[in-house]
Amino acid sequence: MTVRVGIVGCGNMGRTHATILQQDPRVTLVGVTDLDPDRARELAAATASRAFPSLEALLDAEIEAIYITTPNTQHVPATLAALERNIHVFCEKPMATSLAEARQVLTAAQASQAVYQVGHNRRFAPVYRYLKQQIEAGLVPYLANAKQNDGDWLNPPWITDLSLTGGFLYESSIHLLDMLRWLMGEVVSVQARAKANVYDVLNDFAILLTFVGERFAVFSSSAHASWAFPFEHLEIVGEHAFVRSEELSRVVHSPGLEQEVRIVDYRQVPHADRWGYREEDRRFISACLGEAPPAVDVLEAYRAIELCEACYLSAANGGVEVRLPLV
Ligand SMILES: NC(=O)c1ccc[n+]([C@@H]2O[C@H](COP(=O)([O-])OP(=O)(O)OC[C@H]3O[C@@H](n4cnc5c(N)ncnc54)[C@H](O)[C@@H]3O)[C@@H](O)[C@H]2O)c1
Repeated sequence: MTVRVGIVGCGNMGRTHATILQQDPRVTLVGVTDLDPDRARELAAATASRAFPSLEALLDAEIEAIYITTPNTQHVPATLAALERNIHVFCEKPMATSLAEARQVLTAAQASQAVYQVGHNRRFAPVYRYLKQQIEAGLVPYLANAKQNDGDWLNPPWITDLSLTGGFLYESSIHLLDMLRWLMGEVVSVQARAKANVYDVLNDFAILLTFVGERFAVFSSSAHASWAFPFEHLEIVGEHAFVRSEELSRVVHSPGLEQEVRIVDYRQVPHADRWGYREEDRRFISACLGEAPPAVDVLEAYRAIELCEACYLSAANGGVEVRLPLV
């Protein structure tokens, strides 16, 4: 038995997931749709599937699961339409771009019989799994230093349009905010300063996060840092030890005083594996088949949105401490 899958949004991420899904024998790619019919036709031709004229037509084509790979603010209507029909949803990050919409999705997913999984791909990337394994093996994460930069904020063309991205935190920084939560534990509060230095929307963030157990992370995120390596890193500091990821490429691990520093280089690992896309897709299809729960479920997706909202709220109030969960 295969899972009958559709894709809405035939750009970069639509193509990425389509390519991976085609290699999974458990999947039948039924069809794709896009606001731009040429893009839909192109991806349909490349994947031997059908181009549908609208989301509704695709949802009516007896698909069992849908990948939502449209710009950020377009995720929620497609998600709700699919969940209402009990069609499984894989939604690219972010789940939503406001707390109110995130709550709508949370409620709809909990009411639906369908699986919901969000595309926090870094949870499946080997560099971040390495960090997680060290913590599971006993490294106590007392402190974290993290950054997530974009070199420029020029691609895709809709990226600085707030009505499509919802803001820089939703487009880029959400990846590492989710990683910090995943690695450090539940967030108790955030204090954020932000400024619109280079683009018209807030694009430079300095954030202090406090986690359960009085553990801290400092996180900075900029949209105009150039693409010099590494544009993102996350360093966990333990007792006389640290482990640091550098982009999705490399881990530097100092296990203790007077011990060798270990460097693990993943650059030869194929892109779809190095970025975690293949594994997140494999896990989603397993969830559709009822073999396992979704790998990043709707509550985890919601918590990431809540974290972004808390940062925006703090930044809008001069860096005041905002406590979580938000009510
Ligand atoms: N997880 C990751 O690593 C990662 C990386 C890049 C992008 N993303 C996310 O993936 C999503 C897509 O980004 P992208 O880089 O593929 O963008 P893109 O611009 O390359 O593709 C988006 C496509 O959606 C189509 N589209 C726009 N509105 C639509 C609508 N209402 N209905 C149907 N089609 C519509 C566009 O015509 C375009 O073809 C975004 O939410 C982005 O944040 C995730």
